[in-house]
Amino acid sequence: MNNIAITTTNFQLNGKAFSATASPDTPLLWIIRDVANLTGTKFGCGIGLCGACTVHLGRRAVRSCMTPLSASTRPEPQLNNALPTLRPHPSP
Ligand code: FES
Repeated sequence: MNNIAITTTNFQLNGKAFSATASPDTPLLWIIRDVANLTGTKFGCGIGLCGACTVHLGRRAVRSCMTPLSASTRPEPQLNNALPTLRPHPSP
């Protein structure tokens, strides 16, 4: 039987207090998309290459697919979407 630690992690998400209950090694991307329902942060490659999942963690841009939830509590725990919501290209 596997023992998986599930903990509650508190941090700032887009300037607001946010709480997520999950394994500390859950990728931030899934917390942002599936728990916070902020789907503007996209899944691309899942291996840290494409940048589709990039968010600001404090003042650093990080690949949220490769960053564990536990990193959100390190110094400067301000988490903001780095990329604007995608909009369709305007028609001519
Ligand atoms: S999904 Fe491609 S870098 Fe995260």
